[in-house]
Amino acid sequence: MRIRNVKNAKEILDNSKIIVKDASNYKGKLSTLFGNNKPIHLEIGMGKGDFLLAMSKLYPNINFIGIERYDSIVCRACQKLEDVSNVKILVMDARNILDVIGKEIDTLYLNFSDPWPKKRQEKRRLTSFNFLSLYDNIFTGNPHIIMKTDNKGLFAYSLTSLSEYGYTLKNVSLDLEHSEIISPRTEYQRKFKDKEYINYLEAVKVIDK
Ligand SMILES: C[S@@+](CC[C@H](N)C(=O)[O-])C[C@H]1O[C@@H](n2cnc3c(N)ncnc32)[C@H](O)[C@@H]1O
Repeated sequence: MRIRNVKNAKEILDNSKIIVKDASNYKGKLSTLFGNNKPIHLEIGMGKGDFLLAMSKLYPNINFIGIERYDSIVCRACQKLEDVSNVKILVMDARNILDVIGKEIDTLYLNFSDPWPKKRQEKRRLTSFNFLSLYDNIFTGNPHIIMKTDNKGLFAYSLTSLSEYGYTLKNVSLDLEHSEIISPRTEYQRKFKDKEYINYLEAVKVIDK
């Protein structure tokens, strides 16, 4: 994603009511950010926020949290989402997710995640075992991940890593745009939807309790 530097990014984020400050104070208590106990869905790598804006309108009975690591990108999201009551944003690297999130997430979305194509970059992929083991600690019930990407390499990798990690795959599509699956477009998807097929998967891991 192209990152244009926003000059007063820090000021915008400091003054935004949708950005969660001192996020580690809310670990295990994310519901208090919303003032209700509705289910919480998380998007990692939310970019400029189009997906969360559309989802928040489609599903008003769900609370959404977006994670994004770059201030300048989050500023764009703030402009769109500032007055949306069921969305909050954490500005952070998802590698540190367990500092701020306990077992309180119902569904995780990974939309057009960075592919990190080189073998030595594998650990940075959001569907590597590294990240999957972190996700084990954030779900209220059975881990549930929904992913979409135009990157064939990352998709093939994720089908394998999720299966080998114990997830069951369902609703796999190699052409999301021509399927019946409902998944609002992200800003990245809008740019590439006519050039590339969009791949989609849903994965669930059943935990013995
Ligand atoms: C290719 S962009 C896609 C953005 C958006 N999901 C979309 O589809 O338009 C990937 C985004 O994920 C973010 N990202 C990648 N790895 C991340 C991490 N470890 N923690 C937080 N954000 C991350 C990047 O900063 C970038 O904004």
